[in-house]
Amino acid sequence: TAATALALSVTATTAFASAGCDDGEMVIKFSHVTNTDKHPKGIAAQLFADRVNAEMDGKACVEVYPNSTLYNDDQVLEAMLQGDVQMAAPSLSKFETFTKQFRIFDLPFMFKNMDAVEEFQNSDAGQAMKESMVRRGLLGLEFWHNGMKQFSANKPLLEPMDAAGLKFRVMPSDVLVAQMDALDASPQPMAFSEVYGALQTGVVDGQENTWSNTYGQKFFEVQDGVTETNHGLLDYMVVTSVDWWEGLDADIRDQLATILHEVTVERNAAINEVDADNRQALLDAGGVIRELTPEQRQDWVDAMKPVWEKFTDDVGADNIALAQEINA
Ligand code: LMR
Repeated sequence: TAATALALSVTATTAFASAGCDDGEMVIKFSHVTNTDKHPKGIAAQLFADRVNAEMDGKACVEVYPNSTLYNDDQVLEAMLQGDVQMAAPSLSKFETFTKQFRIFDLPFMFKNMDAVEEFQNSDAGQAMKESMVRRGLLGLEFWHNGMKQFSANKPLLEPMDAAGLKFRVMPSDVLVAQMDALDASPQPMAFSEVYGALQTGVVDGQENTWSNTYGQKFFEVQDGVTETNHGLLDYMVVTSVDWWEGLDADIRDQLATILHEVTVERNAAINEVDADNRQALLDAGGVIRELTPEQRQDWVDAMKPVWEKFTDDVGADNIALAQEINA
């Protein structure tokens, strides 16, 4: 398709542009699945690479592989444990086989906005989650924001019953499967790189994603419209392998951690702006956005929030209480 050809040509340019490591420099491969232009993860990963490549010249060199060119999210964590890639930033929904703690971030209507997410992640409970997979060989370094998810489908979605019977692509998360079951819809876990084609050919009817992903992957072009539900969160964990990280010289590790943290603070602070930019770009490109009345939105809350009960033991009642206290 034209979209694939475009994605491939953009990718080829990007891979070529970043392949500039010198002899003697430690190469750090950073693999991710989204586009680079306008995208919160694309921008942050490139800024991290640019800063490392300037400030650690001669010592370390980051190569960013965006657009699933190196790995899909269902392969990247295994590849990391094998030492084939050093850094990635999968969405929190993709750590399902490594930890159940991140399920709190997938529960519908858990966080009222990105400020609440930021505060929760910066709490002691949030920060401790970065180490929840150490036993399995993975270390979380930073949370990166993307934003709130919206539903899109091949027909207008205004009430929860409009989603009933439709097939929705979801990320591979038990919470998201339960969420779609609660709407009497049919959840279809699928890799990000396959979603556009699946929507276009009718393999699925709809999907849920953030403004940057729905715009960046052009999902809106093969959907009737996007409904502004803000029903869930899509955020990332920048992750590395414990073995690789612990094996670095302390000064190198500290410098990488400092640069990564500064990039995180800077880009997370810009998230509402980047989100609004993508929402507007979608409108400018002819995409349809449907806003809900407060009553309609409450119907979605009533339909989906019961899902919390099923996962309270996994995520901890105290963590749910903390998130709600922050929302208040
Ligand atoms: C998705 O699979 O929809 C997202 O996790 C993609 C991403 O990394 O934003």
